Amino acid sequence: MFLIPKSSLKNFDPERCCFVLNEFAAAEFSSAIEMLFAAKNINNKKLSEGFIRHAIDEYKHFTIFTNIKNQIILEYKINKKKLSFVPNHLYNKGYIYKDHFIFEKKKINNFAIFIGANEEIAEKKLISLANHFKQHKPSAFIKIQNILKDEERHAEYSLRFAKNSNGFLLYKIKITKERTISFLRHLYANSLNKFSFIFYPILITILIMVNFVTYFLKLKKVTTNDDVMKNIEPSSIA
Ligand SMILES: [Fe+2]
Ligand SMILES: [Fe+2]
Repeated sequence: MFLIPKSSLKNFDPERCCFVLNEFAAAEFSSAIEMLFAAKNINNKKLSEGFIRHAIDEYKHFTIFTNIKNQIILEYKINKKKLSFVPNHLYNKGYIYKDHFIFEKKKINNFAIFIGANEEIAEKKLISLANHFKQHKPSAFIKIQNILKDEERHAEYSLRFAKNSNGFLLYKIKITKERTISFLRHLYANSLNKFSFIFYPILITILIMVNFVTYFLKLKKVTTNDDVMKNIEPSSIA
């Protein structure tokens, strides 16, 4: 699980819960794809099998989150249009890069550290989502507890491999760096929503101002035909 949204929810809001579950599902699906790519491209049978097992777990988590979401949608009769899983969103929301896989950009030692650090963060976020469901949806809580056990194992395996292949001191330096970068990436992802209330009004103001300016911009026209661009005299723009 590489990039997941903030999951802290105060009161039970079924629609918001479904939104968060949908984001978790997207993160799981993306992680599974990255793992499959790694499995196919690593030159080591044992590691390849490990990546495949990891991918299967992540696909399973995707299905669990999607099923919980669908149950809530049914139960609360929510309009599910905005809550569907759209594969293209994996690119648009930054879960998967369009031009490369993470595995291609990192050596296996560093890839293991990257996975370990991100699985740790995913685990923490999932704990707060699980606690939210504990109160309101106990059956979902149990399912998420099972996902947590898998995530714990993923982090443990990855970091054990990283420790052995990097050496103690280098491991400590790299894991500290990766934890800091991962923390900042997740902080940035979570802040996008939080600060939209500042940037959205600024954007609207700019659009209104541009509209206002264009209202007074008198372009001289040479009306010879219906082509709007051709009818504008170039000197009136300069
Ligand atoms: Fe997962
Ligand atoms: Fe995982």
